[in-house]
Amino acid sequence: MPTRVFLTSGDLMADRRYDFARDLQMKGDLVGAADLLLQTTDLAPNFVTAWFSLGDIREALGERDAAIAAFRKAWAGDPDDRHGASLRLMRLGAEPLAAMPQFYLQTLFDQYARRFESALVDDLGYRGPELLFRAVLAVRAAARKPAFFKRAIDLGCGTGLAAAAFARKVDHFIGIDLSPRMIEQARVTGFYAELAVADIVQGLRARPDGSADLILAADVMIYVADLAPVLAESRRVLADGGLFAFTTETHAGEGVILGEGLRYAHAAAHVRASVESAGLTLSLLEDRSARAEDNVPVPGLVAVATKT
Ligand SMILES: C[S@@+](CC[C@H](N)C(=O)[O-])C[C@H]1O[C@@H](n2cnc3c(N)ncnc32)[C@H](O)[C@@H]1O
Repeated sequence: MPTRVFLTSGDLMADRRYDFARDLQMKGDLVGAADLLLQTTDLAPNFVTAWFSLGDIREALGERDAAIAAFRKAWAGDPDDRHGASLRLMRLGAEPLAAMPQFYLQTLFDQYARRFESALVDDLGYRGPELLFRAVLAVRAAARKPAFFKRAIDLGCGTGLAAAAFARKVDHFIGIDLSPRMIEQARVTGFYAELAVADIVQGLRARPDGSADLILAADVMIYVADLAPVLAESRRVLADGGLFAFTTETHAGEGVILGEGLRYAHAAAHVRASVESAGLTLSLLEDRSARAEDNVPVPGLVAVATKT
């Protein structure tokens, strides 16, 4: 799901040249597009979108150093980093792994809100909510407890697919998401008693101790590099016996990496260690893919942690 952000240079001529360069890029003339973008940035040296596109093209041409230089210009010109230039630098190994820029995420999901479900469910065979549902039921059955929850929080609720899957099992659903457009879509479903536009950690911090019986995060940890703050806050907000169920993408190596698709992948051992250091008990950890890419299942995990 690439973002397409345009921040005008404020110079009509430079903006037009940028459009021509994009046309050339779409037609496959990457060298011609790069030349034109260089002229464009000569005209408007702080034209962030042109620098970002130049970085993109340089990367596609295999010109790593030039790509890094262009992405650095794009990032410096827009510290909010709506294009996600810092992520591109991370993927190129030019910056250490860090959190995703919040404005980038917000822009990405605001842009996707209206076609999110068709893009994810129909095109990518998305089944994160279904995986969570089955995992939570399995954990409750193993504990011989009913799978019914008075108060649940849906982290990164998006358009409300996880609340739809759990609708019959939850009394009171709270949705938290940093994209206002996603929250608008979630509101229409009627599944949520409360909705908040917030980062998931900030949103959890606003909740009292022991105030939730279930916390869900379907396809959200793939945008979170450091699991520790989310796990720690979830533990505080959960009542005793409460569950935190989440999906994530994974990889065969160690720790966390940023994948080709600009989503984080957490190794299984890393998930296990993070859950345990947060003082939660890992009740279930299974290899399960929540989506496909180019018709190939993306390696993933489903995890359920219990506050004991
Ligand atoms: C791939 S969507 C999944 C939506 C929903 N959970 C589902 O299963 O359909 C990821 C959602 O997480 C939200 N998100 C990502 N990182 C977030 C963060 N740090 N804080 C709040 N929301 C976040 C995005 O805005 C987006 O709506």
